[in-house]
Amino acid sequence: MKILITGGRGMLGRTLQKKLSEHEITIADLPEWDITDDIAFSRKLSDAAPDLVVHCAAMTDVDACESDREKAFLLNETGSRNVALACKMNSARLIAISTDYVFGGEPPQEPWAWGEGDLPRPRTVYGESKLGGERMVTMLLPDAVVLRIAWLYGAGGPSFVHTMAKLGAQEGAPLKVVNDQRGNPTSARVVADAIKFIISRPEVRGVVHCTCENQCSWFDLTVELFRLLGLRRGVVPCTTAEFPRPAPRPKNSALKKGVLNVLGYRTPDWKDALADFAVEEFGKKGVEA
Ligand SMILES: NC(=O)c1ccc[n+]([C@@H]2O[C@H](COP(=O)([O-])OP(=O)(O)OC[C@H]3O[C@@H](n4cnc5c(N)ncnc54)[C@H](OP(=O)(O)O)[C@@H]3O)[C@@H](O)[C@H]2O)c1
Repeated sequence: MKILITGGRGMLGRTLQKKLSEHEITIADLPEWDITDDIAFSRKLSDAAPDLVVHCAAMTDVDACESDREKAFLLNETGSRNVALACKMNSARLIAISTDYVFGGEPPQEPWAWGEGDLPRPRTVYGESKLGGERMVTMLLPDAVVLRIAWLYGAGGPSFVHTMAKLGAQEGAPLKVVNDQRGNPTSARVVADAIKFIISRPEVRGVVHCTCENQCSWFDLTVELFRLLGLRRGVVPCTTAEFPRPAPRPKNSALKKGVLNVLGYRTPDWKDALADFAVEEFGKKGVEA
């Protein structure tokens, strides 16, 4: 199969390249490919003639999106529209990657996880612009898959896991880590495996949630990472109010995997996926201090 990956040099794109190596892969990333240039992108996609496009390209810096709304919407909404239109014109199947941050409202009860049918209500420019992208994709290409993933880490980073492995290897006062935001830490490999599964099931369409199993806080994730890497730096829980960021993070953005579960597809527990990743990525001591 011919597969084109937008943002193919990013964190998820790199893992996908490896996982899908039995296919003919085209990497569509800056500077040669620009999803915001509708005509040039469509022409290039037509030349590449992919059977399938995995759309990873995005403005992913959540705080930077808050201060540059125009760029966030250009990339995440208009860019996704351009990708969907090019797929439509070239009869390519589309799997468009989206995010748990399309949810932002207070969850009705704890522990909570958002289903594919729940109404998204983003609290950030990043979430709003990604939701705009989702709507463009499903409007233009009803057969497309919108794959919402969350709290991603993968080889080479950057990610929260990489930042914490680095900080954990440094000497210093105990690290304060937010304990009142919950989600599903998810390995890029787990997402890439799920994408392989979806590729093998052409009937899958619409919104699909894909994360590792079970949820935790950023504090829980840090404690488990340090345990796996044998890092001794202290970690203490703190509240969101103690660690303000430009973009207000959702209190709970954990996702329920209704579609994948109905199809009998299971993802690993977040602790097992992190264990598979951590030592291989960082060695026993974390990254260099
Ligand atoms: N990271 C997470 O925690 C997370 C969580 C949930 C969902 N997601 C979603 O997962 C997807 C992949 O995320 P990621 O972390 O792998 O992202 P990433 O590492 O930031 O990769 C995005 C790639 O897209 C490229 N790109 C940016 N603007 C482009 C343009 N105009 N045309 C073509 N390519 C462009 C980037 O190039 P430059 O580096 O040169 O800008 C980069 O190579 C995104 O859709 C993201 O919204 C991520």
